[in-house]
Amino acid sequence: MAAVVVPNLLVVACFFLVAGVHGLSDFHILTDRADAAYMHRLAAAAGANAALQWVANSDPCNDTWRGVNCNGDGRVVGIDVHGCGLGGWIFGSDDANASSLARFRELDLGDNNLGGPLPVLALPRLQRLNLRGNAFKTIPELFFLHMKKLEHFSVGNNTWLEPWSLPADLRLLAELQTFEANNAHVNGTLAGFLGISTAFRYLSNISLANNHLVGPVPASFASETIASLDLSNNNLSGPISFVDNLSGLSVLRLDRNNFTGPLPALDGLLLQVFSVAHNRLTGLVPPPLLHMSADMEMVSLAGNLLQGPVPQFATTVQNDVAEAAATGSFCRLGPGPCDVDVTSLLAIAAALHFPEVLSRSWKRNDACLGWLGVHCGGEDDMDNGGRRRVRGINLSRLGLNGTMDPAFASLVSLRFISLSGNNISGGLPPAIATQLPSLRVLDVSDNALAGKLPKFRRDVEVCAEGNPALNISSFSPPGISGHQRSGLVVAAVAVLVLLCFF
Ligand SMILES: *[C@@H]1O[C@H](CO)[C@@H](O)[C@H](O)[C@H]1NC(C)=O
Ligand SMILES: *[C@@H]1O[C@H](CO)[C@@H](O)[C@H](O)[C@H]1NC(C)=O
Ligand SMILES: *[C@@H]1O[C@H](CO)[C@@H](O)[C@H](O)[C@H]1NC(C)=O
Ligand SMILES: *[C@@H]1O[C@H](CO)[C@@H](O)[C@H](O)[C@H]1NC(C)=O
Ligand SMILES: *[C@@H]1O[C@H](CO)[C@@H](O)[C@H](O)[C@H]1NC(C)=O
Ligand SMILES: *[C@@H]1O[C@H](CO)[C@@H](O)[C@H](O)[C@H]1NC(C)=O
Ligand SMILES: *[C@@H]1O[C@H](CO)[C@@H](O)[C@H](O)[C@H]1NC(C)=O
Ligand SMILES: *[C@@H]1O[C@H](CO)[C@@H](O)[C@H](O)[C@H]1NC(C)=O
Ligand SMILES: *[C@@H]1O[C@H](CO)[C@@H](O)[C@H](O)[C@H]1NC(C)=O
Ligand SMILES: *[C@@H]1O[C@H](CO)[C@@H](O)[C@H](O)[C@H]1NC(C)=O
Ligand SMILES: *[C@@H]1O[C@H](CO)[C@@H](O)[C@H](O)[C@H]1NC(C)=O
Ligand SMILES: *[C@@H]1O[C@H](CO)[C@@H](O)[C@H](O)[C@H]1NC(C)=O
Repeated sequence: MAAVVVPNLLVVACFFLVAGVHGLSDFHILTDRADAAYMHRLAAAAGANAALQWVANSDPCNDTWRGVNCNGDGRVVGIDVHGCGLGGWIFGSDDANASSLARFRELDLGDNNLGGPLPVLALPRLQRLNLRGNAFKTIPELFFLHMKKLEHFSVGNNTWLEPWSLPADLRLLAELQTFEANNAHVNGTLAGFLGISTAFRYLSNISLANNHLVGPVPASFASETIASLDLSNNNLSGPISFVDNLSGLSVLRLDRNNFTGPLPALDGLLLQVFSVAHNRLTGLVPPPLLHMSADMEMVSLAGNLLQGPVPQFATTVQNDVAEAAATGSFCRLGPGPCDVDVTSLLAIAAALHFPEVLSRSWKRNDACLGWLGVHCGGEDDMDNGGRRRVRGINLSRLGLNGTMDPAFASLVSLRFISLSGNNISGGLPPAIATQLPSLRVLDVSDNALAGKLPKFRRDVEVCAEGNPALNISSFSPPGISGHQRSGLVVAAVAVLVLLCFF
């Protein structure tokens, strides 16, 4: 019995839902002859003749046709039959040129059981198209070509769709406001959709969750109008710095992708939802995230490589900080500041754009416990605070870019620094030359450093060749050529490393 009752209830609910839609039919205008014929064909194809009593020989613009909206000329301008228990293949290929569709402003077929391939439809005035929750099979590449007035599009939850890519003609939809295609087997990249920053003037909501999108979010993606962006559970990669160029953003869901690099600065954003869990994000939690307005509802950070102090949110903010602390690279498992050396090293990592290779290793609150490239003194080489001294940093040949942070000079016990064979740019901070009394070896060879080499003490072995834009003319060590120098550096560093460990 229940199986029969449920569809009937659905249809009854549908009558209530669509009852208000019927426009000017009270005037008993006769439907345009071609539109009437077309509507009868749709009624039969979608089973609306039975489900909605769109019966033969009746007039579609008359008020017996629930969910059909007509204008004063007897032209059909809209259909809203969501959740009406319709089924079947509503469109055929001959709908492609159906002139009766030309006046449509709204077509809401959502939450039915309609199927079949979607043809390229000419809907030049259509503003709202809801296809979600159906069983459509294919979306053609040129689907949006003749829908230039489209404002709201929804095709989510069509689990029978064959994989399809966001078509290039999407960018022609200058009026687009919302685009929703969750659970819809979308593959390919976002390049054709979000790659052109000026295309959309009103775009406010994008939902493409639970699909198979790959590649980066285009760096040129910027918008003042986007309020909600949901790209969760895809296979997107690259940085999420684009978020800083979405000044109107309120809801952000990027969780369960393959994004890398640091969190965005979030300056000036007023977020309600910030969900980036289960990616490969690195670095510190940006301070603005901790001080969002009272509208902040949810923060999700777990399953990343985030570093620094564990963030603390107001109790009103739903969050997963405990899980984030357990799964991330934070310096503690709970709130509290990081050790001073850890803080200095994180500043160094920040200037290097928090590379993943360091974030995987630079975690917890003791840099002397196995941090990649950090060399410490032994038990007999403690500072006044009872901590082992950081004696060397060797980050050579790790594919690093970014700049050298002055925080190197805060690690006052450093004897050697090697950053050779990376792609580090910018200047060499003068504090490294003036504030490290124990420094004996500095190897920055083969990078992209620029500016002027600061003046080092004579007892510091400096190896700086292979930086074409670095002016080393003021630097004249005692008669050693670059080549010989680098040989010496290796030897010196090797000796120092031995000193450090034994
Ligand atoms: C329109 O519906 C009214 C009743 O609501 C009916 O009297 C009239 O005959 C219908 N007109 C057409 C053209 O179907
Ligand atoms: C639609 O019309 C165009 C020309 O007006 C024609 O090329 C095309 O084949 C037609 N499509 C269908 C499906 O009838
Ligand atoms: C999508 O469909 C699934 C099952 O078909 C349903 O559970 C879910 O609520 C739907 N999602 C939305 C947002 O309608
Ligand atoms: C999307 O999936 C279809 C069908 O599996 C495949 O033919 C197509 O190459 C895919 N496109 C991309 C960009 O991965
Ligand atoms: C994003 O914002 C940054 C900083 O304001 C700016 O330099 C950059 O040009 C912006 N990118 C785009 C694509 O607008
Ligand atoms: C767009 O997103 C905002 C923020 O989540 C939400 O309040 C609004 O209802 C959404 N609008 C539409 C049309 O989905
Ligand atoms: C995600 O994409 C990468 C290539 O960018 C590929 O190696 C990986 O297998 C994909 N993962 C999944 C789960 O599809
Ligand atoms: C993330 O991308 C890497 C390649 O950059 C790939 O090897 C890995 O499988 C991807 N992870 C997932 C979960 O898809
Ligand atoms: C800098 O290195 C990161 C990996 O740590 C990489 O993703 C990024 O593309 C590099 N940037 C430049 C400008 O080479
Ligand atoms: C170094 O970085 C520059 C951009 O800053 C980039 O153009 C160049 O390809 C990089 N070189 C290497 C070897 O990664
Ligand atoms: C390098 O620095 C020296 C001394 O400060 C200066 O005379 C020279 O012009 C500089 N060379 C370049 C290429 O800037
Ligand atoms: C620095 O690391 C490189 C590459 O891992 C290694 O070849 C070199 O010997 C190291 N130097 C020191 C001083 O540890």
